[in-house]
Parts: sequence; structure tokens; C-alpha cells
Amino acid sequence: TVVDADGLVLLPGLVDLHTHLREPGREDAETVHSGTRAAAKGGYTAVCAMANSYPVADTAGVVEQVAALGKAAGYADVQPVGAVSVGLEGRQLAEIGAMARSAAAVRMFSDDGHCVSDPILMRRALEYVKTFGGLIAQHAEEPRLTEGAQMNEGAVSAELGLPGWPAVAEEAIIARDVLLAEYTGARVHFCHVSTARSVDIIREAKARGANVTAEVCPHHLLLTDEAARTYDPVYKVNPPLRREADVAVLRGALAEGVIDAVATDHAPHAPQDKDCEWAAARPGMLGLETALSITVLALGGPAEADWDTIAERTSRTPARIAGLEAHGRDPKPGTEANFTLVDPAATWTVVPGELASLSRNTPYAGMELPVTVQATFLRGRATVLNGKIAEETTE
Ligand code: NCD
Ligand code: ZN
Ligand code: ZN
Repeated sequence: TVVDADGLVLLPGLVDLHTHLREPGREDAETVHSGTRAAAKGGYTAVCAMANSYPVADTAGVVEQVAALGKAAGYADVQPVGAVSVGLEGRQLAEIGAMARSAAAVRMFSDDGHCVSDPILMRRALEYVKTFGGLIAQHAEEPRLTEGAQMNEGAVSAELGLPGWPAVAEEAIIARDVLLAEYTGARVHFCHVSTARSVDIIREAKARGANVTAEVCPHHLLLTDEAARTYDPVYKVNPPLRREADVAVLRGALAEGVIDAVATDHAPHAPQDKDCEWAAARPGMLGLETALSITVLALGGPAEADWDTIAERTSRTPARIAGLEAHGRDPKPGTEANFTLVDPAATWTVVPGELASLSRNTPYAGMELPVTVQATFLRGRATVLNGKIAEETTE
């Protein structure tokens, strides 16, 4: 394969710590095949597939199925995330050991998309994953503080009369699990951190040497709760879009490294789950195909882009957090490299119908975004060429 890379930026293949691929169970919204095509188009060579499928990925069988679907599709490495507890309302630990020992070799376990915030269960899970070097990816929501919530709690929710989702619902769980991480000595990763106070708590925890990491989503780096005034359900997401002041702190924390990684929380939803009233709509938005562009915007724009920091937050650090050793590395002679080539001077307009994802719930429709992914290579084989999915990618 010959690529004219004149003027392009070389990045190690991007790694997403937080992708909802919806298979098994909601193949009308996304499949492993369509979701990993979207990943490749976004410059990703590896994605961590979140556990809130149907059935939930709480057994060795489901995680092995997801990993096998990823291999068969061949667009990106798919590392399944196991559920920390059984089912969507689980009150009992899932088969963590069996998933870890399975062919999927799961290391990360999560309550994302579930509502388990029981501290006893979390302590037991932390002690268990510590025995084999695993970690817990914490969705960070105290559900008793978010019952009925529709958007961020603040000036805009008060004006619109919508029940608010308070920042403390997130911060209380982050504070608690920082303490549990220190108590057990186990690793905790905080998903989709969205408030300024959460950043403070994580900064202090890291200063004490706590074994914690954190991710931020592109949408929390760009959009605010002002978007809820449109009542367009495309802006409904967990955790909710916050205030301008939170966005500014999140951007600073990402640049600084207090927040370790960008993660998409790519959350495809079928039309019937989004083309409805705000209150009835499912939370979540697409992320894989726009994440790099939004990250560049949030970190100062294409002219100011510090590509080394971008590589660190979108590839090297997430690869390290997830233990994906073949990823997050610069290409070396004689190795099958995972990398992406980006045009730093190009722009593109987001057209939902042109996305590789099966779903259309992007909040950036019609927006002109900076930088394009020109090529993505998975183990030396092109998955994307000239900005389009390369053919013959099945192994
Ligand atoms: C996610 C989903 O749709 O699965 N939704 C969301 O709004 N982020 C679940 C989650 O990440 O909490
Ligand atoms: Zn979540
Ligand atoms: Zn999620």
C-alpha cells in the first residue's frame, strides 16, 4: 500500500477506553462490525467495548463472543470490558475471574450503563481485580441523587423547569472510590469525568499517590447545558453537558494530564430512542468519528495543536491504562504497526448519513470540524485509506 503522507501527521493508532458497540442485543443501533468501522474512520486501532449489552457482558461466554466478532470484522482490536456485577441491576459480583481467564483476557470491569453503586460490592470487586492486576472503570453516578434527572442541575435547568442532575452525584462517587482505591491498593479508572470539582478530587488523589486515572469525553470538552434549551434529545447524555466553567477546567486538566485520556463514550442509539421527547430519549451520543477533531478544537485548535500531547491523551496513555501492549507505540521497523495519518490543515463537515456508525445521533451535524483522518493501519494493514474504509479488511 502506498500513501502520500506529504504534510500529514503520524500518530500511534488511537485507543478508546469507552465504546458502546451494542452487540449483542441492540444490533439495530450498532454492531461490532459497524462500530469498529466507525472507530477506524476516527483513527482508532483499538476500542474497549463497554459491558451494557443484552445480555450484559457478565460471563466469559459474552466477552469471548464480543472479542471474536471484533477479530472477524478486522477493523480494530476489540477489548471487551466485563461487567462488575450481574445484569443491569446487579447486586452480586459477576464472573470476574472467569472473564479474566477467558480467551478475551478481560482486565477492566465496569458498572458503566448500570446502576450499581454499592460500596461493599465495589470494595470486594477492587480486592478481587487487584489479585490479577485488573482495574475497575467507574461510571461515577450515585443513582439516588439522579432519580428523575433530565439535565445538569443549575441555572439553565431552573429556567427550563427540568429536574436537575447535580454535580455532587458524580463527585460523591469519585471521592468515595478514590478512598476505596487507597484503602484496597487497587486501581480505579473514572469514566466520563464532567465537573470541575471532580477534577479537584482527582488532582488531590493523584498528589497523594492514589492509584487512579480518569477520562474525559469530547462532548464535555466542547458543549454546555445551554444546548438543552433546544430540547433536541441529541444533547441528552450521561453525565449531562455541564456549565462553561466546567468545560474550561476539563480542558485545562486534559492539557495538564490530571485527566489522563480522552474517551469517546460512543453511545449509538436507534432512531426510535432519540427521535422522541427529551424526557423519553435515551442518553448518549456518537463519538468515534469526531473525537480527534473535537480534541484538537478543545486543546486550542489546529494551528496550536501539540501533537505529542494529543498522541499521549488519545493513544499512549489509554493503551497503558487498558494494558493494550500492541497499541500506543510509535511504529518501529520490522513490526506490524498500528498508526494513523492525519491531515492537520484539512477541515470536514459532519454529515450524519455519511458516518460509518449505524446510528445518526451526532451532536455535530452540519458543523465544520478541523483535521481529517486520512489513513489508519491495523498491524500494518490499511483499514482506512484516503479517508475511506479500505476494502479487503477481513482476515
Ligand atoms: C451510555 C449508553 O448509552 O450506554 N449512555 C450515556 O449517556 N453515556 C451509558 C453510559 O456511558 O453511562
Ligand atoms: Zn457511564
Ligand atoms: Zn458509557
